[in-house]
Amino acid sequence: MSANQTPFEFTQALRSAADKIVAKYPEGRQASAVLPLLDLVQRQNGGWVTTDMMSAVAEFLDMAPIRVYEVASFYTMINLEPVGETVVEVCTTTPCWLRGCDGIVQACEETLGIGLGETSADGRFTLREVECLGACVNAPIVKINDDYYEDLDPDRTRAILDSISRGAAPPPGSQTGRKTSAPASGPTTLSASAGDS
Ligand code: FES
Repeated sequence: MSANQTPFEFTQALRSAADKIVAKYPEGRQASAVLPLLDLVQRQNGGWVTTDMMSAVAEFLDMAPIRVYEVASFYTMINLEPVGETVVEVCTTTPCWLRGCDGIVQACEETLGIGLGETSADGRFTLREVECLGACVNAPIVKINDDYYEDLDPDRTRAILDSISRGAAPPPGSQTGRKTSAPASGPTTLSASAGDS
């Protein structure tokens, strides 16, 4: 039996977590919960889903299995193969490319010792490129597991990966200290204090 055919059944705990997710959607629209349910089972399985898991989700949601496979194979956050403990995803779409993602990819490859699409021999890291992560305003962006690291450059990227390698949890968000997605050069409006006029 291949790794992709491991038998899978919803445990009682998983079923109850899935019930809570399905309850957020209108009656009869349980199929809308397919993505959070795939995420739920993936987190129970070291970060990836087997075919049996997708079939179990389909059965749970009363969907045709092919519809679940379609969703799982479309979204890059659902992994169809085993991944490393830490998944590093570098955005290489145009805004991040214009802001230097090539240097970020190179920094990741050099620091982790693996290329795009590869997992380190010790199973600690998977590195891959992804399309727009939806945070272009703070490009370039790297997503590491559930966290976004923004306003990166090669040195900052190396420092973050080194820190994670040592078991630390470097703070996510902008790495230049800007507040959320405020202009990189500082506020451009509402900059005067109340008593200035
Ligand atoms: S292009 Fe990289 S986050 Fe949108």
